[in-house]
Amino acid sequence: MKMTFKKTVIGAAAILAAAFGGISIASAAGGGDSHYEMKHVHWHFDGPRGTYDRAAMQRGYQVYREVCSSCHQLEHVAFRHLGDKGGPFYNEHYKNPNDNPLVKALAADWTVEDIDIDTGDVIDRKAIPADMFPPVYANASAAAASNNGKAPPDLSVMVSARTGGADYVYNVLTSYDKNDNMMNMMMNSQVAMANPLSEGLVEYEDGTEATVEQMAKDVTEFLAWTSDPKMEARKSLGLATMLYLLVLSILMWFAYKSVWRNVKH
Ligand code: HEC
Repeated sequence: MKMTFKKTVIGAAAILAAAFGGISIASAAGGGDSHYEMKHVHWHFDGPRGTYDRAAMQRGYQVYREVCSSCHQLEHVAFRHLGDKGGPFYNEHYKNPNDNPLVKALAADWTVEDIDIDTGDVIDRKAIPADMFPPVYANASAAAASNNGKAPPDLSVMVSARTGGADYVYNVLTSYDKNDNMMNMMMNSQVAMANPLSEGLVEYEDGTEATVEQMAKDVTEFLAWTSDPKMEARKSLGLATMLYLLVLSILMWFAYKSVWRNVKH
């Protein structure tokens, strides 16, 4: 009786092992053709001490403004955020980003809708730092209708929202072949966006050469910041916490030694 039970267990284990072995062989064999290797970029903000590259973010803002903003909104971002500590246009002389003249000028380059308080009419006016980035289209149907039925998604948190994060966005932007066809991206996701970038599309103010890879990298750096503007603050707090815990552990060790020093082990 005992033997039979043992045999049953061994048998079951063998079946399970065979099944899992089989599955892993099957999965190794299949799925090869549709697989697209995502190119990994070395980001300035990688790692526990990584920070955003300010110059890259500023160039990235320029790419967003001149290229992407005709289709994609940044609905969670206000102009004043650009001048927040850690933001692309932070200036330590202006603790309040609403006073930062560069942020004011950047905002004034945009038009937002407002209500005329005397007449109640909808009017257009220049944006101020307190305004949010304005919508591109009147509504979702209009957005889809203007883009072959697929509305361009909001980009504020795109880097956080997609598997692969910044690498994913970079790969979308650099995955077009010479004929502007998107090379087979990830497993089955095809993005219905025409190639937005081409060599020299923007003229960088800092003289950086505007290759497709450069623009893709810069705008992704900018969008990584819009997705996670508090990253730098969080990382430095994390580091301070680790340091605190380290010092605490050392003190605890000496306290332990001193408390037990007269006790025989
Ligand atoms: C002419 C309009 C247009 C422009 C310009 C444009 N896009 Fe798009 N974008 C789209 C559309 C349409 C989609 C696809 C929506 C879909 O497939 O559902 C898209 C998709 C994307 C996606 C993929 C989103 C996802 O769901 O995974 C990313 C990332 C993206 N765009 C980033 C950008 C960036 C960055 C720029 C500027 C360099 C840009 N786009 C410029 C229209 C545009």
